[in-house]
Amino acid sequence: MDGMVEELESAVARWDESGWPRPRVMVVSGSGLAVDLGDPGRHSRPMGDFLPFGTGHVDGHPHTFDLLAADTDRPVLYQRGRLHSYQGYDGHETAFSIRLAALLGVKTVILSNAAGGLRQESRPGDLMLIRDHINLIGLNPLRGELPEGWGPRFPDLTAAYDLELRRVARDEAARLGMELDEGIYAAVAGPSYETPAEVSMLRAMGADLVGMSTALEVIAARHMGLRCLGFSLVANLASGMVAEPLVHTEVLAAAEEASGRLRELLVRLLERPELYAD
Ligand code: HPA
Repeated sequence: MDGMVEELESAVARWDESGWPRPRVMVVSGSGLAVDLGDPGRHSRPMGDFLPFGTGHVDGHPHTFDLLAADTDRPVLYQRGRLHSYQGYDGHETAFSIRLAALLGVKTVILSNAAGGLRQESRPGDLMLIRDHINLIGLNPLRGELPEGWGPRFPDLTAAYDLELRRVARDEAARLGMELDEGIYAAVAGPSYETPAEVSMLRAMGADLVGMSTALEVIAARHMGLRCLGFSLVANLASGMVAEPLVHTEVLAAAEEASGRLRELLVRLLERPELYAD
């Protein structure tokens, strides 16, 4: 937290010095979901070039910033991979790139993640739109003193996942003939998967999905007035719901296998003017 504001200011300066135009929309990909959204050409760099700390390594996360459609008036910052609290990052570090995007003028952020399905009828490969989240990570990126100009001390999270953008997403999914149910995402700290008892608790709480990301980024994004849209790809049924144990490589493989549909939907969504509105 110490020095974060200055670090963000120098990250903004580094961005501008790079000669890259400022983005309007941001996309953040989850585990195994760094799908091809277009050729960034020379506009692709390791995230570490812009951040004041390293990105570590997690399989399924390339950790690059790509700038798509850089020569149009609608550039898109595509963050391929993310930082998780289970890697040891605090709430502020986890949300750093979201804040960088907000300071650069991004208005809308689309986040994807691989998640465990909590509904009995869920199947690996199902794509769900996040309607709301339950933050059980035990961190909040708004802890501590933040510049007043960034946003309110006590931001409202009533419609954290934007109603209009969810309608647009459902609309595009329907046009593609894709099923897209909405669900509640429970964010947990990880990195161990849940016990079956924890899965029972999450189901009793009303969660439909469980994963280890997204909620902190959405809190930081809403604080700064960004509109959010979140997609979960069900990579597995949560622990205890099936006989087999959970293995990260298999979770990744399932996410990658089904990622083509997410790609299709994202490509269509990025064409919608609603995303770029002020
Ligand atoms: N639990 C938590 N996070 C996850 C899971 C899970 O079952 N699958 C993918 N990410």
